[in-house]
Amino acid sequence: MTELRTLRDSQDAGESVSTWTNPLRDPRDLRLARIAGPCSLVIFGITGDLARKKLMPAVYDLANRGLLPPGFGLTGFARRDWTDEHFVNFVRENIEQHCRTPFRESTWINLAKGIRFVRGTFDDASAFERLSKTVNELDRDRGTRGNHAFYMSIPPSSFPVVAQQLAASGLSHSSEHAWRRVIIEKPFGHDLASARELDRVVSEVFDPNSVFRIDHYLGKETVQNLLAFRFANAMYEPIWNANYVDHVQITMAEDIGIGGRAGYYDGIGAARDVIQNHLLQLMALTAMEEPVSFRASDLTAEKTKVLSAIRLPQDLAANTARGQYAAGWQGSYKAVGYLEEQGIDPQSTTETYAAVRLDVDTRRWAGVPFYLRTGKRLGKRVTEIAVIFKRAPHLPFESTAVRELGSNAIVIRVQPDEGVTMRFGAKVPGGTAMEVRDVSMDFSYGRSFTESSPEAYERLILDVLLGEPPLFPTTQEVDLSWKILDPIEEFWSSLGTQPQPYRAGTWGPAEADAMLARDNRHWRLP
Ligand code: BG6
Repeated sequence: MTELRTLRDSQDAGESVSTWTNPLRDPRDLRLARIAGPCSLVIFGITGDLARKKLMPAVYDLANRGLLPPGFGLTGFARRDWTDEHFVNFVRENIEQHCRTPFRESTWINLAKGIRFVRGTFDDASAFERLSKTVNELDRDRGTRGNHAFYMSIPPSSFPVVAQQLAASGLSHSSEHAWRRVIIEKPFGHDLASARELDRVVSEVFDPNSVFRIDHYLGKETVQNLLAFRFANAMYEPIWNANYVDHVQITMAEDIGIGGRAGYYDGIGAARDVIQNHLLQLMALTAMEEPVSFRASDLTAEKTKVLSAIRLPQDLAANTARGQYAAGWQGSYKAVGYLEEQGIDPQSTTETYAAVRLDVDTRRWAGVPFYLRTGKRLGKRVTEIAVIFKRAPHLPFESTAVRELGSNAIVIRVQPDEGVTMRFGAKVPGGTAMEVRDVSMDFSYGRSFTESSPEAYERLILDVLLGEPPLFPTTQEVDLSWKILDPIEEFWSSLGTQPQPYRAGTWGPAEADAMLARDNRHWRLP
């Protein structure tokens, strides 16, 4: 009977449940509920947008799903002159406003017992001493056992000073029995050189295995479904290659503008903001070979091979496009142009739309272009991966009877309406002629499963607390992604021109359409 321990037994013993053994189940079973062992999370940048809208709600949702240890601790570090009580109310308000699962008083009361606030600035060593005292108290009062994760939801320029303060106050130091981890939000630098410098600073303080770089796209259920779609089925892999695929389009379109993020966005632009990370990660997952397992090292090995094999076109003028949104209508909403947004330099040359053609130099993808595009203030919010197939080699129909026939396509919709659509030709019913027209077959998460998908941040925060790194990009992946983007950025800045304007609510600049037209292709209308 001794093996039949309960989940609570294992938590009391300080184990994370991913290591808890149930004799009836294989511990490698990826369906097991994963519950974090004793630990706490410290958030720097707690008053920022990300912490308010995503991080605090994610912590609550995890607690509500029973995936956090009963004595979990949450500490906010900020400059404001707040008491613990004021901070607790602030956290509650944000959670109530943004949580995904229902707000339950009992979950909240337990979580609130572990909430602490430390007032201070990043350059103030005494504030970090107070932080150190606070986490020690959590160890004593909440049983967090020295296991603490530090979330840097702050500008990269502040990383070095925070990392040094954590080191100086002994907070970054893991021991045999207690772990310390750091979570870094993008952007991971501005270019290859600054990313490497950032990495140097962080690795002086934290062991590489304790550093978790967040690319929240990897935490999205549908992105993980891409792996299930490709590798849990027999029917797609045989056609997932240059013999059958004509090209791939990866689109991340947003209908919002830059909102209150002028300070972050201006000078960064669409390509650095999302192509360097989210879109290249989606491309790597779409193009990679089957990993040996879903362990971090195996997944990374395959993604890294793709990123290393990506080739930039010689002619960047013909194969990239930039745009900047001008005023326009989005439905009934009148949107101002980028240059009129608050906090934006009226001469700004920052792009809010970027498109690029990339090739992958492998046998599987030789001659198959991957087109990546992203933009703000586009027609609608949608992220999708569209694999467009070559036309059938021979069509035994009158050409007039296949007029509306496009190419077959498999479209993986990352958001919204998460799911997969297949487009193929079907006979139009009735009539005498054999008329063929495009139809689609749809799988939708919402219709097939009753449970709503967890937010990406729920999954990723839990993974950090469990110490499971498969969904976090490595330094090498970040490095390779900058190597792809840097020449494009250099080319654009060498032009010294303004990105081409496009009206808000449309699908981007004419330059982007011309880019595909040169290859005899066109962008999908998602
Ligand atoms: C962030 C970008 O990484 O992703 C933002 O910095 C963008 O500019 C956001 O709006 C989009 O995320 P999501 O999950 O809403 O697609």
